[in-house]
Amino acid sequence: MTYINQLSDHQDKTVTLKGWIYNIRSSKNIHFLEVRDGTGLCQCIVGADNVSEEVFEAAGTLKQESSLEITGKVVKDDRSVGGYELHVSDMKIIQIAENYPITPKEHGVEFLMENRHLWLRSRRQWAAMQVRNTIQFSIHRFFQQEGFIQMDAPIFTANAAEGTTTLFETDYFDEKAYLTQSGQLYGEAMAMAHGKIYTFGPTFRAEKSKTRRHLTEFWMIEPEMAFYDLDMNMELAEKMLQFIIRTVLEEKKAELDILERDTTLLEKAAAEPYKRISYTEAVNQLKSDKTAQMLDEMESDRTEELASIKKELEEIKKEHGSAKKWRKVQIDQRIKEIHARIDQIEEDLRNIPEWKESARNFDWGNDFGGSDETILTMQYDTPLIIHRYPAEVKAFYMKRDPEDDKLALAVDVLAPEGFGEIIGGSVREDSLNTLKKRVAEHNLPEEVFKWYLDLRRYGSVPHAGYGLGLERTVAWICGLGHVRETIPFPRMLGRLRP
Ligand code: 4AD
Ligand code: MG
Repeated sequence: MTYINQLSDHQDKTVTLKGWIYNIRSSKNIHFLEVRDGTGLCQCIVGADNVSEEVFEAAGTLKQESSLEITGKVVKDDRSVGGYELHVSDMKIIQIAENYPITPKEHGVEFLMENRHLWLRSRRQWAAMQVRNTIQFSIHRFFQQEGFIQMDAPIFTANAAEGTTTLFETDYFDEKAYLTQSGQLYGEAMAMAHGKIYTFGPTFRAEKSKTRRHLTEFWMIEPEMAFYDLDMNMELAEKMLQFIIRTVLEEKKAELDILERDTTLLEKAAAEPYKRISYTEAVNQLKSDKTAQMLDEMESDRTEELASIKKELEEIKKEHGSAKKWRKVQIDQRIKEIHARIDQIEEDLRNIPEWKESARNFDWGNDFGGSDETILTMQYDTPLIIHRYPAEVKAFYMKRDPEDDKLALAVDVLAPEGFGEIIGGSVREDSLNTLKKRVAEHNLPEEVFKWYLDLRRYGSVPHAGYGLGLERTVAWICGLGHVRETIPFPRMLGRLRP
Protein backbone atom coordinates (compact mmCIF):
# COMPACT_ATOMS: atom_id res chain seq x y z
CA MET A 1 0.00 0.00 0.00
CA THR A 2 1.24 3.47 -0.90
CA TYR A 3 0.12 6.78 0.58
CA ILE A 4 -0.76 9.76 -1.60
CA ASN A 5 1.81 12.02 0.05
CA GLN A 6 4.53 9.55 -1.03
CA LEU A 7 3.58 9.45 -4.71
CA SER A 8 6.61 11.50 -5.75
CA ASP A 9 8.80 8.53 -4.73
CA HIS A 10 6.92 6.27 -7.14
CA GLN A 11 6.79 8.21 -10.38
CA ASP A 12 6.03 5.97 -13.40
CA LYS A 13 5.65 2.93 -11.13
CA THR A 14 2.47 1.01 -10.44
CA VAL A 15 1.10 1.42 -6.91
CA THR A 16 -2.03 0.61 -4.92
CA LEU A 17 -3.83 3.30 -2.94
CA LYS A 18 -6.49 2.68 -0.31
CA GLY A 19 -8.97 5.41 0.42
CA TRP A 20 -12.29 7.08 -0.15
CA ILE A 21 -13.97 8.82 -3.08
CA TYR A 22 -13.91 12.57 -2.61
CA ASN A 23 -15.49 13.51 -5.90
CA ILE A 24 -16.37 11.90 -9.24
CA ARG A 25 -16.78 13.20 -12.76
CA SER A 26 -17.69 10.81 -15.53
CA SER A 27 -18.11 10.91 -19.24
CA LYS A 28 -18.82 8.07 -21.68
CA ASN A 29 -15.39 6.45 -21.74
CA ILE A 30 -13.67 7.87 -18.71
CA HIS A 31 -14.20 8.29 -14.96
CA PHE A 32 -12.22 10.87 -13.01
CA LEU A 33 -12.12 9.73 -9.39
CA GLU A 34 -10.76 12.12 -6.85
CA VAL A 35 -9.49 9.82 -4.10
CA ARG A 36 -8.43 10.85 -0.58
CA ASP A 37 -6.50 8.61 1.76
CA GLY A 38 -5.91 10.80 4.81
CA THR A 39 -2.57 12.06 3.55
CA GLY A 40 -3.83 13.93 0.49
CA LEU A 41 -5.93 13.88 -2.66
CA CYS A 42 -5.14 12.19 -5.96
CA GLN A 43 -6.98 12.22 -9.25
CA CYS A 44 -7.39 8.65 -10.51
CA ILE A 45 -8.27 8.24 -14.14
CA VAL A 46 -10.25 5.18 -15.13
CA GLY A 47 -10.32 4.87 -18.92
CA ALA A 48 -12.58 2.32 -20.63
CA ASP A 49 -9.59 1.12 -22.67
CA ASN A 50 -7.29 0.56 -19.70
CA VAL A 51 -9.38 -1.58 -17.36
CA SER A 52 -11.69 -4.56 -17.66
CA GLU A 53 -15.30 -3.98 -18.51
CA GLU A 54 -16.35 -4.99 -14.96
CA VAL A 55 -13.98 -2.53 -13.37
CA PHE A 56 -15.10 0.27 -15.66
CA GLU A 57 -18.73 -0.39 -14.85
CA ALA A 58 -18.04 -0.73 -11.13
CA ALA A 59 -16.29 2.65 -11.18
CA GLY A 60 -19.49 4.12 -12.57
CA THR A 61 -21.44 2.91 -9.51
CA LEU A 62 -19.16 4.62 -6.98
CA LYS A 63 -20.58 7.43 -4.90
CA GLN A 64 -19.03 10.09 -2.73
CA GLU A 65 -17.14 8.59 0.28
CA SER A 66 -17.27 5.02 -1.04
CA SER A 67 -14.15 3.15 0.08
CA LEU A 68 -11.85 1.37 -2.33
CA GLU A 69 -8.46 -0.01 -3.29
CA ILE A 70 -7.15 1.36 -6.52
CA THR A 71 -4.10 0.38 -8.57
CA GLY A 72 -2.41 2.23 -11.37
CA LYS A 73 0.63 4.02 -12.73
CA VAL A 74 1.83 7.22 -11.05
CA VAL A 75 2.09 10.00 -13.64
CA LYS A 76 3.44 13.46 -12.96
CA ASP A 77 0.92 16.15 -13.79
CA ASP A 78 1.39 19.69 -12.58
CA ARG A 79 -2.26 20.67 -13.05
CA SER A 80 -3.41 17.86 -10.79
CA VAL A 81 -4.03 18.34 -7.04
CA GLY A 82 -0.88 17.07 -5.38
CA GLY A 83 1.07 17.10 -8.65
CA TYR A 84 0.54 13.40 -9.54
CA GLU A 85 -2.30 11.41 -11.00
CA LEU A 86 -2.99 7.73 -11.18
CA HIS A 87 -3.66 6.00 -14.50
CA VAL A 88 -5.81 3.19 -13.21
CA SER A 89 -5.36 -0.45 -14.23
CA ASP A 90 -7.44 -2.10 -11.49
CA MET A 91 -9.83 -1.25 -8.71
CA LYS A 92 -11.54 -3.06 -5.84
CA ILE A 93 -14.55 -1.57 -4.07
CA ILE A 94 -14.55 -2.01 -0.28
CA GLN A 95 -17.92 -0.41 0.37
CA ILE A 96 -20.37 1.64 -1.66
CA ALA A 97 -21.36 4.53 0.59
CA GLU A 98 -24.96 5.51 1.20
CA ASN A 99 -25.93 8.97 -0.05
CA TYR A 100 -23.43 11.19 1.71
CA PRO A 101 -25.04 14.12 3.53
CA ILE A 102 -22.21 16.57 2.90
CA THR A 103 -22.09 17.34 -0.81
CA PRO A 104 -19.85 19.82 -2.61
CA LYS A 105 -22.69 22.37 -2.51
CA GLU A 106 -22.85 24.90 0.28
CA HIS A 107 -24.18 23.83 3.70
CA GLY A 108 -25.08 25.92 6.73
CA VAL A 109 -22.65 25.75 9.63
CA GLU A 110 -25.26 24.26 12.02
CA PHE A 111 -25.79 21.36 9.63
CA LEU A 112 -22.05 20.86 9.32
CA MET A 113 -21.60 20.95 13.11
CA GLU A 114 -24.33 18.29 13.49
CA ASN A 115 -22.30 16.22 11.06
CA ARG A 116 -18.93 17.06 12.56
CA HIS A 117 -17.97 13.35 12.57
CA LEU A 118 -18.19 13.43 8.76
CA TRP A 119 -17.29 17.08 8.17
CA LEU A 120 -13.80 16.25 9.45
CA ARG A 121 -13.19 14.55 6.09
CA SER A 122 -13.68 17.73 4.08
CA ARG A 123 -10.59 19.35 2.67
CA ARG A 124 -10.52 22.52 4.75
CA GLN A 125 -11.29 20.67 7.96
CA TRP A 126 -8.63 18.14 7.12
CA ALA A 127 -6.09 20.90 6.53
CA ALA A 128 -6.92 22.62 9.84
CA MET A 129 -6.46 19.38 11.81
CA GLN A 130 -3.15 18.74 10.06
CA VAL A 131 -1.96 22.19 11.10
CA ARG A 132 -3.25 21.64 14.66
CA ASN A 133 -1.17 18.48 14.88
CA THR A 134 1.95 20.27 13.68
CA ILE A 135 1.37 23.04 16.21
CA GLN A 136 0.99 20.50 19.03
CA PHE A 137 4.12 18.62 18.08
CA SER A 138 6.13 21.82 17.62
CA ILE A 139 5.16 22.95 21.13
CA HIS A 140 6.50 19.72 22.60
CA ARG A 141 9.64 20.06 20.49
CA PHE A 142 10.19 23.62 21.61
CA PHE A 143 9.88 22.98 25.33
CA GLN A 144 11.82 19.74 25.28
CA GLN A 145 14.61 21.48 23.37
CA GLU A 146 14.62 24.26 25.96
CA GLY A 147 15.08 21.78 28.80
CA PHE A 148 11.51 21.71 30.12
CA ILE A 149 9.80 18.54 31.23
CA GLN A 150 6.13 17.89 30.54
CA MET A 151 3.90 17.37 33.55
CA ASP A 152 0.31 16.16 33.60
CA ALA A 153 -1.86 18.17 35.95
CA PRO A 154 -4.99 16.58 37.44
CA ILE A 155 -8.36 17.19 35.81
CA PHE A 156 -10.47 16.67 38.94
CA THR A 157 -9.63 19.41 41.41
CA ALA A 158 -10.90 20.64 44.75
CA ASN A 159 -10.00 24.29 44.15
CA ALA A 160 -10.55 27.04 41.60
CA ALA A 161 -7.50 28.49 39.84
CA GLU A 162 -9.00 31.26 37.70
CA GLY A 163 -11.93 32.56 39.74
CA THR A 164 -15.07 30.72 40.75
CA THR A 165 -17.51 31.89 38.08
CA THR A 166 -16.60 29.42 35.34
CA LEU A 167 -16.28 26.18 37.29
CA PHE A 168 -17.86 22.95 36.15
CA GLU A 169 -18.91 21.14 39.27
CA THR A 170 -19.08 17.39 39.59
CA ASP A 171 -19.69 14.82 42.28
CA TYR A 172 -16.57 13.05 43.50
CA PHE A 173 -17.79 10.24 45.77
CA ASP A 174 -20.05 12.59 47.72
CA GLU A 175 -17.45 15.31 47.74
CA LYS A 176 -17.65 18.41 45.52
CA ALA A 177 -15.03 18.47 42.79
CA TYR A 178 -14.42 20.74 39.82
CA LEU A 179 -13.07 20.16 36.35
CA THR A 180 -9.78 22.02 36.17
CA GLN A 181 -9.71 25.52 34.70
CA SER A 182 -5.93 25.52 34.54
CA GLY A 183 -3.06 23.25 35.53
CA GLN A 184 -0.98 26.16 36.72
CA LEU A 185 -1.11 25.75 40.50
CA TYR A 186 0.03 22.14 40.16
CA GLY A 187 2.59 23.26 37.59
CA GLU A 188 4.06 25.58 40.22
CA ALA A 189 4.54 22.62 42.56
CA MET A 190 6.32 20.67 39.81
CA ALA A 191 8.47 23.68 38.88
CA MET A 192 9.77 23.69 42.46
CA ALA A 193 10.80 20.06 41.88
CA HIS A 194 12.11 20.32 38.30
CA GLY A 195 12.84 23.99 37.59
CA LYS A 196 11.16 24.31 34.20
CA ILE A 197 7.98 22.40 33.36
CA TYR A 198 5.03 22.65 30.99
CA THR A 199 1.57 21.18 31.10
CA PHE A 200 -0.30 20.19 27.95
CA GLY A 201 -3.83 19.23 28.75
CA PRO A 202 -7.55 19.83 28.58
CA THR A 203 -9.04 22.61 30.68
CA PHE A 204 -12.68 23.47 31.32
CA ARG A 205 -14.58 26.69 31.75
CA ALA A 206 -18.32 27.04 32.13
CA GLU A 207 -18.30 29.97 29.71
CA LYS A 208 -21.85 31.10 29.12
CA SER A 209 -20.70 33.45 26.35
CA LYS A 210 -21.30 32.41 22.77
CA THR A 211 -18.36 33.97 20.99
CA ARG A 212 -15.99 32.87 18.28
CA ARG A 213 -13.19 32.63 20.84
CA HIS A 214 -14.76 30.60 23.64
CA LEU A 215 -14.99 26.88 24.15
CA THR A 216 -16.06 25.13 27.36
CA GLU A 217 -13.35 22.52 26.88
CA PHE A 218 -10.05 23.64 25.42
CA TRP A 219 -6.41 22.62 25.51
CA MET A 220 -3.88 24.74 27.29
CA ILE A 221 -0.11 24.66 27.40
CA GLU A 222 1.24 26.11 30.65
CA PRO A 223 4.98 26.53 31.16
CA GLU A 224 6.09 27.40 34.67
CA MET A 225 9.65 28.45 35.46
CA ALA A 226 11.42 28.86 38.79
CA PHE A 227 13.54 32.03 39.02
CA TYR A 228 11.90 33.70 35.97
CA ASP A 229 10.78 37.33 36.10
CA LEU A 230 8.27 39.14 33.88
CA ASP A 231 10.77 39.97 31.12
CA MET A 232 12.04 36.41 30.92
CA ASN A 233 8.44 35.22 30.79
CA MET A 234 7.67 37.53 27.86
CA GLU A 235 10.85 36.50 26.06
CA LEU A 236 9.97 32.83 26.35
CA ALA A 237 6.43 33.42 25.06
CA GLU A 238 7.77 35.28 22.04
CA LYS A 239 10.43 32.70 21.28
CA MET A 240 7.88 29.88 21.57
CA LEU A 241 5.37 31.56 19.22
CA GLN A 242 8.09 32.25 16.68
CA PHE A 243 9.17 28.63 16.78
CA ILE A 244 5.61 27.36 16.33
CA ILE A 245 4.88 29.63 13.40
CA ARG A 246 8.20 28.97 11.71
CA THR A 247 7.55 25.24 11.95
CA VAL A 248 4.04 25.52 10.48
CA LEU A 249 5.24 27.75 7.64
CA GLU A 250 7.98 25.25 6.82
CA GLU A 251 5.99 22.05 7.15
CA LYS A 252 2.38 22.90 6.35
CA LYS A 253 2.53 25.15 3.30
CA ALA A 254 0.08 23.03 1.28
CA GLU A 255 -2.45 22.95 4.13
CA LEU A 256 -2.26 26.73 4.59
CA ASP A 257 -2.89 27.03 0.84
CA ILE A 258 -6.00 24.86 1.13
CA LEU A 259 -7.16 27.16 3.93
CA GLU A 260 -6.40 30.13 1.66
CA ARG A 261 -4.37 31.63 4.47
CA ASP A 262 -2.52 34.79 3.51
CA THR A 263 0.78 34.19 5.29
CA THR A 264 2.29 37.68 5.01
CA LEU A 265 1.72 38.54 8.66
CA LEU A 266 2.55 35.05 9.88
CA GLU A 267 5.95 35.40 8.25
CA LYS A 268 6.48 38.61 10.20
CA ALA A 269 5.31 36.97 13.42
CA ALA A 270 7.85 34.21 12.84
CA ALA A 271 10.79 36.59 12.50
CA GLU A 272 10.23 40.07 13.90
CA PRO A 273 10.29 41.09 17.58
CA TYR A 274 6.88 41.67 19.18
CA LYS A 275 5.91 45.09 20.42
CA ARG A 276 5.58 45.29 24.24
CA ILE A 277 3.41 47.94 25.82
CA SER A 278 1.96 48.39 29.29
CA TYR A 279 -1.76 48.16 30.01
CA THR A 280 -1.79 51.90 30.71
CA GLU A 281 -0.19 52.62 27.34
CA ALA A 282 -2.71 50.33 25.70
CA VAL A 283 -5.61 52.21 27.32
CA ASN A 284 -4.20 55.52 26.11
CA GLN A 285 -3.86 54.11 22.65
CA LEU A 286 -7.44 52.87 22.70
CA LYS A 287 -8.77 56.29 23.67
CA SER A 288 -6.58 58.21 21.24
CA ASP A 289 -7.64 60.29 18.23
CA LYS A 290 -5.48 58.05 16.09
CA THR A 291 -7.65 55.04 16.98
CA ALA A 292 -10.85 56.98 16.28
CA GLN A 293 -9.43 58.03 12.94
CA MET A 294 -8.40 54.48 12.09
CA LEU A 295 -11.93 53.26 12.78
CA ASP A 296 -13.40 56.00 10.61
CA GLU A 297 -11.12 54.95 7.81
CA MET A 298 -12.05 51.34 8.30
CA GLU A 299 -15.71 52.25 8.08
CA SER A 300 -15.33 54.12 4.82
CA ASP A 301 -13.07 51.42 3.32
CA ARG A 302 -15.62 48.75 4.13
CA THR A 303 -18.48 50.83 2.72
CA GLU A 304 -16.59 51.27 -0.53
CA GLU A 305 -15.67 47.61 -0.75
CA LEU A 306 -19.29 46.63 -0.15
CA ALA A 307 -20.51 48.79 -3.01
CA SER A 308 -17.89 47.41 -5.37
CA ILE A 309 -18.45 43.71 -4.65
CA LYS A 310 -22.21 44.17 -4.82
CA LYS A 311 -21.69 45.59 -8.30
CA GLU A 312 -19.50 42.63 -9.25
CA LEU A 313 -22.19 40.29 -7.95
CA GLU A 314 -24.83 41.88 -10.20
CA GLU A 315 -22.53 41.58 -13.20
CA ILE A 316 -21.57 37.94 -12.78
CA LYS A 317 -25.15 36.98 -12.01
CA LYS A 318 -26.11 38.47 -15.38
CA GLU A 319 -23.26 36.62 -17.08
CA HIS A 320 -24.29 33.32 -15.48
CA GLY A 321 -27.33 32.73 -17.74
CA SER A 322 -25.38 32.50 -20.98
CA ALA A 323 -22.04 31.24 -19.58
CA LYS A 324 -20.38 27.98 -20.64
CA LYS A 325 -20.48 25.15 -18.09
CA TRP A 326 -16.89 25.60 -16.81
CA ARG A 327 -17.47 29.32 -16.41
CA LYS A 328 -20.71 28.70 -14.51
CA VAL A 329 -18.73 26.65 -12.00
CA GLN A 330 -16.28 29.54 -11.61
CA ILE A 331 -19.09 32.04 -11.19
CA ASP A 332 -20.87 29.90 -8.59
CA GLN A 333 -17.65 29.71 -6.61
CA ARG A 334 -17.14 33.45 -6.81
CA ILE A 335 -20.76 34.11 -5.78
CA LYS A 336 -20.19 32.01 -2.67
CA GLU A 337 -17.05 34.00 -1.84
CA ILE A 338 -18.80 37.29 -2.37
CA HIS A 339 -21.71 36.34 -0.11
CA ALA A 340 -19.31 35.35 2.65
CA ARG A 341 -17.43 38.61 2.28
CA ILE A 342 -20.65 40.65 2.27
CA ASP A 343 -21.71 38.99 5.53
CA GLN A 344 -18.33 39.83 7.04
CA ILE A 345 -18.42 43.45 5.90
CA GLU A 346 -21.99 43.97 7.06
CA GLU A 347 -21.07 42.58 10.46
CA ASP A 348 -18.08 44.93 10.63
CA LEU A 349 -20.23 47.88 9.63
CA ARG A 350 -22.76 47.03 12.32
CA ASN A 351 -19.95 46.76 14.90
CA ILE A 352 -17.72 49.71 14.11
CA PRO A 353 -19.90 52.42 15.71
CA GLU A 354 -20.05 50.40 18.97
CA TRP A 355 -16.33 49.74 18.84
CA LYS A 356 -15.67 53.45 18.46
CA GLU A 357 -17.84 54.23 21.44
CA SER A 358 -16.34 51.63 23.73
CA ALA A 359 -12.76 52.47 22.76
CA ARG A 360 -13.23 56.18 23.32
CA ASN A 361 -14.98 55.68 26.66
CA PHE A 362 -12.76 52.90 27.98
CA ASP A 363 -12.09 53.32 31.70
CA TRP A 364 -8.68 52.53 33.16
CA GLY A 365 -9.18 49.53 35.44
CA ASN A 366 -11.45 47.45 33.19
CA ASP A 367 -10.37 44.36 31.36
CA PHE A 368 -10.20 44.56 27.57
CA GLY A 369 -13.12 43.09 25.68
CA GLY A 370 -12.85 41.26 22.38
CA SER A 371 -13.40 44.39 20.31
CA ASP A 372 -10.85 46.39 22.33
CA GLU A 373 -8.29 43.67 21.63
CA THR A 374 -9.13 43.73 17.94
CA ILE A 375 -8.70 47.49 17.78
CA LEU A 376 -5.43 47.43 19.72
CA THR A 377 -3.88 44.77 17.52
CA MET A 378 -5.04 46.35 14.26
CA GLN A 379 -2.24 48.86 14.63
CA TYR A 380 0.50 46.21 14.65
CA ASP A 381 1.57 43.54 12.19
CA THR A 382 3.02 41.15 14.78
CA PRO A 383 1.49 39.88 18.03
CA LEU A 384 1.17 42.53 20.73
CA ILE A 385 2.42 41.90 24.26
CA ILE A 386 0.61 43.86 26.98
CA HIS A 387 1.99 43.82 30.53
CA ARG A 388 1.15 45.18 34.00
CA TYR A 389 -2.63 45.00 34.22
CA PRO A 390 -4.77 46.39 37.04
CA ALA A 391 -4.54 43.77 39.79
CA GLU A 392 -8.32 43.98 40.33
CA VAL A 393 -9.16 42.27 37.05
CA LYS A 394 -6.59 39.53 37.43
CA ALA A 395 -6.24 36.29 39.39
CA PHE A 396 -5.38 36.02 43.10
CA TYR A 397 -1.98 34.41 42.58
CA MET A 398 -0.42 37.25 40.58
CA LYS A 399 2.40 39.23 42.14
CA ARG A 400 1.96 42.98 42.37
CA ASP A 401 4.31 45.41 40.66
CA PRO A 402 6.76 46.66 43.34
CA GLU A 403 6.63 50.07 41.59
CA ASP A 404 2.84 50.35 41.77
CA ASP A 405 0.66 48.20 44.00
CA LYS A 406 -2.44 48.72 41.82
CA LEU A 407 -0.74 46.72 39.06
CA ALA A 408 -0.18 43.00 38.70
CA LEU A 409 2.93 41.64 36.98
CA ALA A 410 0.66 40.09 34.39
CA VAL A 411 1.16 39.65 30.68
CA ASP A 412 -1.20 38.87 27.79
CA VAL A 413 -0.20 38.21 24.22
CA LEU A 414 -2.72 39.30 21.60
CA ALA A 415 -2.59 37.83 18.11
CA PRO A 416 -2.94 40.25 15.20
CA GLU A 417 -5.72 40.33 12.58
CA GLY A 418 -8.45 40.39 15.21
CA PHE A 419 -7.68 37.01 16.81
CA GLY A 420 -7.19 38.49 20.26
CA GLU A 421 -5.72 37.01 23.44
CA ILE A 422 -3.87 33.75 22.92
CA ILE A 423 -1.63 33.86 25.99
CA GLY A 424 -2.23 34.95 29.57
CA GLY A 425 0.46 34.77 32.22
CA SER A 426 2.18 36.43 35.16
CA VAL A 427 4.80 36.45 37.85
CA ARG A 428 3.40 34.55 40.87
CA GLU A 429 3.12 35.93 44.37
CA ASP A 430 5.91 34.23 46.32
CA SER A 431 5.44 35.66 49.81
CA LEU A 432 3.43 33.43 52.14
CA ASN A 433 1.75 36.26 54.02
CA THR A 434 0.77 38.25 50.94
CA LEU A 435 -0.59 35.16 49.22
CA LYS A 436 -2.65 34.26 52.30
CA LYS A 437 -4.06 37.76 52.21
CA ARG A 438 -4.99 37.42 48.51
CA VAL A 439 -6.72 34.09 49.10
CA ALA A 440 -8.83 35.80 51.76
CA GLU A 441 -9.51 38.87 49.60
CA HIS A 442 -10.82 36.65 46.82
CA ASN A 443 -13.06 34.78 49.28
CA LEU A 444 -11.29 31.52 48.52
CA PRO A 445 -11.26 28.79 51.20
CA GLU A 446 -7.76 28.70 52.70
CA GLU A 447 -7.91 25.02 53.63
CA VAL A 448 -8.05 23.81 50.00
CA PHE A 449 -5.09 26.03 49.15
CA LYS A 450 -3.02 24.75 52.05
CA TRP A 451 -0.79 22.66 49.80
CA TYR A 452 -0.34 25.62 47.44
CA LEU A 453 0.65 27.89 50.31
CA ASP A 454 3.21 25.26 51.36
CA LEU A 455 5.16 26.11 48.19
CA ARG A 456 5.76 29.54 49.83
CA ARG A 457 6.80 27.96 53.12
CA TYR A 458 9.55 25.69 51.89
CA GLY A 459 12.13 27.41 49.72
CA SER A 460 9.87 29.96 48.06
CA VAL A 461 11.45 31.55 44.99
CA PRO A 462 10.40 34.11 42.39
CA HIS A 463 8.72 32.30 39.52
CA ALA A 464 6.52 32.94 36.52
CA GLY A 465 4.64 31.25 33.73
CA TYR A 466 1.85 31.57 31.22
CA GLY A 467 -0.90 29.67 29.48
CA LEU A 468 -1.24 29.35 25.70
CA GLY A 469 -4.70 28.51 24.39
CA LEU A 470 -4.24 25.88 21.70
CA GLU A 471 -7.51 26.44 19.84
CA ARG A 472 -7.09 30.19 19.60
CA THR A 473 -3.56 29.63 18.32
CA VAL A 474 -4.83 27.21 15.67
CA ALA A 475 -7.58 29.70 14.69
CA TRP A 476 -5.03 32.45 14.25
CA ILE A 477 -2.45 30.44 12.32
CA CYS A 478 -5.09 28.85 10.06
CA GLY A 479 -7.01 32.13 9.69
CA LEU A 480 -10.25 30.52 10.93
CA GLY A 481 -13.04 32.84 12.03
CA HIS A 482 -14.31 30.59 14.83
CA VAL A 483 -12.65 28.22 17.31
CA ARG A 484 -15.25 25.53 16.56
CA GLU A 485 -13.20 24.50 13.51
CA THR A 486 -9.92 24.23 15.43
CA ILE A 487 -10.64 21.11 17.50
CA PRO A 488 -12.05 17.78 16.27
CA PHE A 489 -15.16 17.79 18.47
CA PRO A 490 -15.74 21.26 19.94
CA ARG A 491 -17.56 21.70 23.23
CA MET A 492 -19.25 25.04 23.71
CA LEU A 493 -22.46 26.55 24.96
CA GLY A 494 -25.23 24.54 23.31
CA ARG A 495 -22.94 21.93 21.77
CA LEU A 496 -22.26 18.56 23.40
CA ARG A 497 -22.83 16.29 20.38
CA PRO A 498 -21.51 14.62 18.31
O1 4AD B 1 -5.70 33.86 30.55
P1 4AD B 1 -6.06 32.53 31.10
O2 4AD B 1 -7.34 32.40 31.82
O3 4AD B 1 -4.83 32.12 32.01
C1 4AD B 1 -4.73 31.03 32.83
O4 4AD B 1 -5.52 30.11 32.88
C2 4AD B 1 -3.45 30.97 33.59
N1 4AD B 1 -3.59 29.98 34.68
C3 4AD B 1 -2.32 30.61 32.65
C4 4AD B 1 -0.99 30.57 33.36
O5 4AD B 1 -0.47 31.60 33.72
N2 4AD B 1 -0.44 29.40 33.53
O6 4AD B 1 -6.06 31.45 29.92
C5 4AD B 1 -4.92 31.27 29.12
C6 4AD B 1 -5.29 31.14 27.66
C7 4AD B 1 -5.98 32.37 27.09
O7 4AD B 1 -5.05 33.35 26.72
C8 4AD B 1 -6.70 31.78 25.90
O8 4AD B 1 -5.81 31.61 24.82
C9 4AD B 1 -7.09 30.42 26.40
O9 4AD B 1 -6.24 30.10 27.48
N3 4AD B 1 -8.49 30.39 26.84
C10 4AD B 1 -9.51 29.89 26.12
N4 4AD B 1 -9.56 29.31 24.92
C11 4AD B 1 -10.75 28.89 24.45
N5 4AD B 1 -11.89 29.00 25.15
C12 4AD B 1 -11.91 29.57 26.38
N6 4AD B 1 -13.03 29.64 27.06
C13 4AD B 1 -10.67 30.05 26.92
N7 4AD B 1 -10.32 30.64 28.08
C14 4AD B 1 -8.99 30.84 28.02
MG1 MG C 1 -6.60 35.71 30.19
